Amino acid sequence: MPKAVVLGAAGGIGQPLSLLLKASHLITELSLFDIVNTPGVVADLSHIATPAQVTGYLPPNDGLVNALKGADVVVIPAGVPRKPGMTRDDLFRINAGIVRDLAKAIATTSPKAFVLVISNPVNSTVPIFAEVFREHGVFDARRLFGVTTLDVVRAQTFVAEVQGDGRNAPNVTVPVVGGHSGVTIVPLLSQSQPPLAANTSEEKLKELTHRIQFGGDEVVKAKDGAGSATLSMAYAGAEFAFKVLRALGGEKGIISPSYVHLSADANGGGVIHKELGRPVEYFSAPVELGPNGVERILPLGKVTAYEKALLEAALPELEGNITKGSEFITAAA
Ligand code: APR
Repeated sequence: MPKAVVLGAAGGIGQPLSLLLKASHLITELSLFDIVNTPGVVADLSHIATPAQVTGYLPPNDGLVNALKGADVVVIPAGVPRKPGMTRDDLFRINAGIVRDLAKAIATTSPKAFVLVISNPVNSTVPIFAEVFREHGVFDARRLFGVTTLDVVRAQTFVAEVQGDGRNAPNVTVPVVGGHSGVTIVPLLSQSQPPLAANTSEEKLKELTHRIQFGGDEVVKAKDGAGSATLSMAYAGAEFAFKVLRALGGEKGIISPSYVHLSADANGGGVIHKELGRPVEYFSAPVELGPNGVERILPLGKVTAYEKALLEAALPELEGNITKGSEFITAAA
């Protein structure tokens, strides 16, 4: 059974995410790294009677390298969270430097690991990982993921509410594509299952779309200065990690949303490029997972005129975010 590593494990997301992984029975080793407080989190979690053996590391004395040794899956919520008034892009400068250094350590210590990026802005941090991995000659698009599951989790919840049956949220499916920030998040509500009522007004669709795109702001506001989504993000991050672990274990046909480099798909993203009418390097879409990572990126399928307009609004911002991330590494080279 595999070893999972959490980088940023003592944080608001890192702690509940580590708890969910420890409780999962899907791993035998859980290794935690943070620049502060790792020992306390390790002592606490290690008392839970599940198979995963928990170890923890701090920066000195090769802590990061020791944490990463033999990793199969590395989940990364390290960084600073968004405060009121900050957009995800405001976080860029601080978190870009943090993830660049973590990426270098992964590239040299555990280059074959599946890397699951939570640190925001995901639209840009995933390209940072890719560029660092490229520099080290270890980039494999099939094993690098931006975690966008929370957008889908929110879509399930909000669509179920609009349908008047909040309890049905786990059974609702809504593809959410694009990126992981504001207008780059594009819910394909016309493909919701169960479908939205045929007479759903355009105003209602816009309201629902906006709530899915900016759901994170509700949490930032309600936390009143204390940070951004942590518990729902940890839940979503764990859901995605479980799917990756199950795929690694040989389970077939697992589909999950994820933000990936489109070369992860055998056709190089050609189908999505055609659907979008232009090439884009990274995109979030439902992907099929296998033991080597991404096996297939699912096409968008039939979209409405309203959704097409949302995609057109998303792409320039997404492309800007991607360039910003890539250039953070390539311009410094
Ligand atoms: N290496 C490891 N851990 C780090 C590093 C680093 N270089 N720098 C910071 N951290 C740790 C912090 O010590 C902290 O424990 O990352 C953790 C972040 O936790 P919080 O500050 O509570 O932030 P959180 O709400 O968990 O969000 C973390 O995930 O969704 C994103 O936007 C969010 O980018 C933010 C990140």
